[in-house]
Amino acid sequence: MTRTSQRILITAALPYANGYVHLGHLAGAYLPADMYARYQRLNGREVLFLCGSDEHGVAITVSAEHEKVTPKQIIDRYHPDNESAFRKFGMSFDQYSRTSIPLHHETAREFFSEFHAAQILKEREERQFYCEFDKLFLADRYVEGICPVCKYDKARGDQCENCGSWLNQLELIDAKCKLCGRTPVVRSTRHWYFPLGEYQERLQAYIQERDARDGWRETVLRYCESWFRQGLQDRAVTRDLTWGVPVPVKGFEHKVIYVWFDAVLGYISAAKEWAVNRSVPEAWRAYWQDESTKYVAFIGKDNVVFHCIVFPAMLMAWNDHHTSRFVLPENVPANEFLNLEGQKFSKSRGWGIDLRDFLRFFPADALRFALAANLPETKDADFSMKEFQARVNNELADIVGNFINRTLAFVARNFGGVAPASGVPDERDKAMLEVLRNAPANIGDLYERYKFREVVAETVNVARIANKYFNDSEPWKTIKQNPSKCATTIAVSLQTVSALSVLLRPIVPVLAQGIDRLLDQTAVEEKGTWKTAGDRPVPAGHKLPTPGILITKVEDEAIAAMSREMTASEGPAGVPSENLISIDDFRKVVLKVARVVSAERIAKSEKLLRLIVEIAGEERQIVAGIAKHYAPETLVDKRVVVVANLQPAKLMGLESRGMLLAANADDGTLRIVVVEGEIPTGSVVR
Ligand code: MF3
Ligand code: ZN
Repeated sequence: MTRTSQRILITAALPYANGYVHLGHLAGAYLPADMYARYQRLNGREVLFLCGSDEHGVAITVSAEHEKVTPKQIIDRYHPDNESAFRKFGMSFDQYSRTSIPLHHETAREFFSEFHAAQILKEREERQFYCEFDKLFLADRYVEGICPVCKYDKARGDQCENCGSWLNQLELIDAKCKLCGRTPVVRSTRHWYFPLGEYQERLQAYIQERDARDGWRETVLRYCESWFRQGLQDRAVTRDLTWGVPVPVKGFEHKVIYVWFDAVLGYISAAKEWAVNRSVPEAWRAYWQDESTKYVAFIGKDNVVFHCIVFPAMLMAWNDHHTSRFVLPENVPANEFLNLEGQKFSKSRGWGIDLRDFLRFFPADALRFALAANLPETKDADFSMKEFQARVNNELADIVGNFINRTLAFVARNFGGVAPASGVPDERDKAMLEVLRNAPANIGDLYERYKFREVVAETVNVARIANKYFNDSEPWKTIKQNPSKCATTIAVSLQTVSALSVLLRPIVPVLAQGIDRLLDQTAVEEKGTWKTAGDRPVPAGHKLPTPGILITKVEDEAIAAMSREMTASEGPAGVPSENLISIDDFRKVVLKVARVVSAERIAKSEKLLRLIVEIAGEERQIVAGIAKHYAPETLVDKRVVVVANLQPAKLMGLESRGMLLAANADDGTLRIVVVEGEIPTGSVVR
């Protein structure tokens, strides 16, 4: 039985501010969270929708070290960029916060201090990897090795991304320092531990109860069960690092709170920041500390343990000792992963599409629609540009857009652009009106059960049924034979367009607004419009504009343009090992030594450099995606390897004749291949 609460708190996982949000993130947590938030607002609920940047931890410091900047510079670059990309994508966050703000440090320190004072935390001496070269305890991602569970060779000190195990770093096989690659030694250090094991029974009961009430996803329940089967262990919640929230315990001021301990509390800080910004500093409590609030936490599957086990246990621990008690997640609808053209998104292999890049080529609504129709809700899903194009063109444009257009075009042509008064509805009209009347409850039920793929299918289905209704009613015939019947058909069709503008709102908000403007109905902004979406006839006599193009189709050329730029800037993606080529295939590629004559930045491109290279006396222009990795002047006179017989391509309006070979390092950096010594240019590389 789903609990119906008037107030709903919605959070979406806080992305690390060390890289750009990509399509995989959107499909994992953000798009479903936004659809849910928008639906609940239309449904008349009080919604607080929170997100923000996760700015601590080794994810940030490792990126900073690789880019040779400070952690602060890293977060100050990615935080605003991700926030603005999210806005462009239509994310309707009430607050996009960040964990580096003092308000958040206070929240995290308060929790830690309270747990310490209540003697929940235990101090213990622990053996840890220490790098004698870098003079550093290798917390979390600073150490990598082979996962003891699945044998994946890039498991990190705290977590194996491949099998999801939460590891004790000493279990790693063949551990190496991530900074210098050396084998670390083991040293003792003191840390504070959270006794997760003591909460196991209560956590199991908690999940069982919420599942019974709100229907948790099978996949999420399975992850939790496997944690419980292994038995929950005490976990260190401090780290020997300098970047993070300083530990508020005497003698530990030089250590920081473990990033996951502080990050989940970021949701609470975000609510506080929202309240402060609205000048009602206590308003956050209505969401976090009123037991009638329904709290839903949207995440990707790699975050399950932290949101279904660690965070609830922390909140339980707090609630045991305080009268102001926090609500626990009612549900954690985690999604599986989205693959791109059959392969995992991977920052290190340069395989992925950043949201920012994508939105330069296609409108947000097109992406929202295609992603929503194919969310990895029950299993991993695949995103391909072909499917993106097919979804947008065949469903959004040809079914939804087509219905709206033909209706408005008919009004313009046959009714002088004025909404007609309905005659007496016949059976067919009544059946269509019945579909409209039932759609909000039917589709609403899918939202309540977090089945967002089905939401899209059912919403499109309303338009599909409407197209059939329009065809079967043949208004182009009845306009002459039976004008009153024709008027009825068109009145019902207009009412359908009006319903669609509400039903589409959570999925494609810009398009929905466009339809509203056409109908001149701003009522959709009002809370509670959802329930009566099917019952908003367009008043007779209402003047309607001629429809323009509502939905632009995705053209092959746009896809080609994007993929040209992406391949150039991201470097080649990993090729599956089954794709073996023959020696003849390889001989087709002509690789030659070239000397860099000049190199310069390209205006408006962060990624591309314009190079002039000389190959056996001939000069050529090559546009290379290495601007983030090399200062142009350092390249001059280097002897590099180029693909000499590549078809010319245009990048940012510049012709590129050839491609530079470069190694794609694990951390996302590119290193160009250079040839030793004074070898003549034009020499063939084999
Ligand atoms: N930054 C984490 C990730 O990208 C998610 C943090 S969610 C939070 O995997 F709740 F802990 F903030
Ligand atoms: Zn080292």
